[in-house]
Amino acid sequence: MKKFSVVIAGGGSTFTPGIVMMMLDNIDRFPMRELVLYDNDGDRQAVLGEALEILLKEQAPDLKFSYTTDPEEAFTDKDFCMAHIRVGKYEMREKDEKIPLRHGVIGQETCGPGGIAYGMRSITGMLEIIDHMETYSPDCWMLNYSNPAAIVAEACRVLRPNSKVLNICDMPVGTLRRMSQIIGKDPQDLEVRYFGLNHFGWWTSVKDKEGHEYLDQIRDYVAENGYLTQVEVDTQHMDQSWQETHKKAKDLLAVNPRYLPNTYLKYYLYPDYEVAHSDRNYTRANEVMNGREKEVFSAARNIIEKGTAVDGGFHIDSHASFIVDLARAIAFNTHERMLMIVENNGAIANFPDDAMVEVPCIVGNDGPEPLAQGKIPAFEQALMFQQVTVEKLVVEAYVEQSYQKLWQALTLSKTIPSAKVAKDILDDLIEDNKDYWPELH
Ligand code: NAD
Ligand code: G6P
Ligand code: MN
Repeated sequence: MKKFSVVIAGGGSTFTPGIVMMMLDNIDRFPMRELVLYDNDGDRQAVLGEALEILLKEQAPDLKFSYTTDPEEAFTDKDFCMAHIRVGKYEMREKDEKIPLRHGVIGQETCGPGGIAYGMRSITGMLEIIDHMETYSPDCWMLNYSNPAAIVAEACRVLRPNSKVLNICDMPVGTLRRMSQIIGKDPQDLEVRYFGLNHFGWWTSVKDKEGHEYLDQIRDYVAENGYLTQVEVDTQHMDQSWQETHKKAKDLLAVNPRYLPNTYLKYYLYPDYEVAHSDRNYTRANEVMNGREKEVFSAARNIIEKGTAVDGGFHIDSHASFIVDLARAIAFNTHERMLMIVENNGAIANFPDDAMVEVPCIVGNDGPEPLAQGKIPAFEQALMFQQVTVEKLVVEAYVEQSYQKLWQALTLSKTIPSAKVAKDILDDLIEDNKDYWPELH
């Protein structure tokens, strides 16, 4: 079987060890000959790189492994680039969350003003790594899960329309896993219908391979409990704040009992509740810095100190195996059915062709083929049109360096009550993003 050469962009990510462990666990399904970590912060990456070097020598001595900040070294002779960069790192995520909260508005990584600010930073970083990939390995595919995926995907559509970049999110995967626990099934045996934007969508069907529909059964459970389940099988989305998010799906369902909601809709449908329940001095960025980031980096330092990864504290991120499924779909033309972020082109019949939507796709060696989801009801359509227009305005603002368009994007966001508040937030964001955003006129 062919063996693949892979680069992970954002090698210093808190998710890198879990994903490398997951890829090792799947090495028979997706054989690798080379794995390189690439990051533009050499010091951060070196901690994980050194620890993974020790671990891989012990567990996969035949796999050629290295880590580098040099694009040529990283991107030469690659088949796949797994990308999870965070432009501005946790320092800027904290600002994205805290600046809007000062103005009484949702402070979130990918939704509302925080997501818009992050989007304006991410576009530059994404274009940079796409260009590296195309310079050194023109046939390479990028599997991107860098956020905010909706804005990144729209930027790719507009600025790199022919690039082999696939944008994907793990939230539907994680939530389907919870649904499978509710009905006592294996998630692999379930097939869904879904429509929306990234972090903004609804399941319209959850069936097993025999065609039995579970939507009603799951809905009855979610109406009582949200997606909160008793089973502890996930390595992600387990912190208390995430449990609150899973529970809140109950109130999302109440607004629209017809379909099963993506949990991110809470920021658009219950912004007042979310702001009231946020601590403006201690947000999710602080939780992650004091939790996952500390745990992952101290496990790495521990491995380096001991010189061995036996009982080393890196854990397999098993829920991220969809990344291997996607790579396999491209590499082996498996025609796997997966939710992807793609250009609509009629997949949602009554929605603009040029919108980047999240829908089930059949993925083969030419990439994703979206499956038609038909017409959607007015309530969801209107919410989606408002949000997709925000995302498009952000990309236009980036391209045209337009203050006006970014102000419009913020004003249109359902999370912000007025043009005045939008302007106040924008002026604060500009100040703190000086090192990352294009200058706006
Ligand atoms: P992190 O800050 O720990 O890691 C990101 C790394 O990217 C850092 O080491 C940073 O130095 C590096 N980086 C930043 N700009 C870069 C550039 N231009 N070139 C190369 N490297 C660069 O962040 P994290 O919490 O581990 O998350 C990583 C990313 O994955 C984020 O974008 C996050 O939102 C995303 N994510 C997405 C999903 C999804 O569902 N799509 C799921 C989980 C995480
Ligand atoms: C989910 C989303 C990702 C997001 C992550 C944040 O997995 O799909 O897009 O980045 O949650 O998780 P965190 O633990 O960093 O708050
Ligand atoms: Mn996501």
